[in-house]
Amino acid sequence: MPDRADPSPGRVRVAVYPGSFDPLTNGHIDIIERGARIFDVIVVAILVNAEKSPLFTMQERVDIVREVFRGRPHVEVDTFDGLLVDYVSRREAQVIVRGLRAVSDFEVEFQMALMNRRLDSSIETVFMMPAEQYSYISSRLIKEVFSLGGRVSGLVPETVERRLHEKRGD
Ligand code: PNS
Repeated sequence: MPDRADPSPGRVRVAVYPGSFDPLTNGHIDIIERGARIFDVIVVAILVNAEKSPLFTMQERVDIVREVFRGRPHVEVDTFDGLLVDYVSRREAQVIVRGLRAVSDFEVEFQMALMNRRLDSSIETVFMMPAEQYSYISSRLIKEVFSLGGRVSGLVPETVERRLHEKRGD
């Protein structure tokens, strides 16, 4: 196996946490915090054009992560397009972090992890479980509930809640 999966002593362990983050939720934050405890650097990597009509622009999504993790040099934010494994390779990272909320996530995550391994066997996918109170949160559900007038406080960081209200013109 290539040596990227087994960095030499003293080498920085970089993990990439990829996703759409439209928007960042408290579930994502929980995973980032867990990742930051294990890896030297965790890069929140936002996929460009993941959705045809995202609610938050790429710049807004980057700004949100920056705001939430201000003063945390080990949490970085970046954008990428193309194949995730190519991006991970360019960043000289060894690991892809993904959150697993429920069994229903497993099938698609399993497929992605094995496809990514086939594309680059030196990159390992690590799954992390968020705290139970976040196990049902998704960006899609947040947008749906908010757009229909439901409360999302406690489920997203304050900056996201404020920006959601701004977008609605509250
Ligand atoms: O937040 P999401 O939408 O669950 O994230 C999905 C993401 C960005 C991890 C996935 O779509 C991805 O890696 N896209 C990049 C293109 C790619 O590498 N596709 C093959 C993955 S098996």
